[in-house]
Amino acid sequence: MIILRTVSDVSRFVSEQKGRNASIGFVPTMGALHAGHLSLVEKAVSENDVVIASVFVNPTQFNNPNDLATYPRKEEDDFRLLAEAGVTAVFAPSVEEIYPGGVEAHAGHKFDLGQAAEVMEGKYRPGHFQGVAQIVSLLFRIVTPDRAYFGEKDFQQIAVIRNMVKSENIDVEIIACPIKRADDGLALSSRNSLLTSEQRKLAPEIYAALKDSVEYSLSHSVQATHDTVVERIDAVPGMKVEYFEIVDARTLVKIDEWEESPWVVGCITVYCGDIRLIDNIAYRLPK
Ligand code: PAJ
Repeated sequence: MIILRTVSDVSRFVSEQKGRNASIGFVPTMGALHAGHLSLVEKAVSENDVVIASVFVNPTQFNNPNDLATYPRKEEDDFRLLAEAGVTAVFAPSVEEIYPGGVEAHAGHKFDLGQAAEVMEGKYRPGHFQGVAQIVSLLFRIVTPDRAYFGEKDFQQIAVIRNMVKSENIDVEIIACPIKRADDGLALSSRNSLLTSEQRKLAPEIYAALKDSVEYSLSHSVQATHDTVVERIDAVPGMKVEYFEIVDARTLVKIDEWEESPWVVGCITVYCGDIRLIDNIAYRLPK
């Protein structure tokens, strides 16, 4: 696996690959890789001639300085895992390489991300999706992939990136990949490594509550389904739901009745102590 540190390294590598007509799959990450990230890589490897992964903890998408400071960084392990998974090249730039002159010098452009960016994460993490759109659009322009792979764990992020690609007119196919979970159901996340062993034991209650609520939803209202999930998770010591919204999966607008949409997803964010975990589940899927 080739390690690329600069934009010009990537441009050279990409033009060589395009010169031989290779298709390029791209998996953007912030590192501290786990089997969730690697499931995206695996799909990318199976569908493209060449796979580029990026490892970059993007400062502009963190609205909480402490979250950025404590974000886990494990470059050596990440490179080993990516190489083993069959990645052709990894792009791991410095902050200065991506934002020369500092991040403030690059704050000008406001992305049109639509209604999907205003709700849930957009509401609770102001500026987060602008930062995501900034780095993902930049990476797309540098890497110029045919296909880019994103995980449904960040369900809203995929919708926002689809809107960004449209409004910025970027020619790339966005591929959504299913959530990878630990054996006890907890959605894999780089932030799980920050949980104490006690918190880690309790955290699977998030998915357990979501999963049980799917059956419950068949005979209960949207509001009752919402409440049963929130009450169950809030009853766990040290856990607090920040939001739980049951939404139309395409628009991410809240629904009041199950009949309002053929594709309904519940998106949740839970504080486990200071650690913010997110997950989601489908209640109704289009036939
Ligand atoms: P990061 O949190 O590192 O995630 C990188 C990709 O891995 C995202 O598409 C995410 O949805 C996916 N992923 C994470 N956990 C997963 C799991 N358990 N199952 C399936 N996929 C999973 O998301 C980001 O980084 C950043 O916002 C980024 C897009 C790289 C822009 O900086």
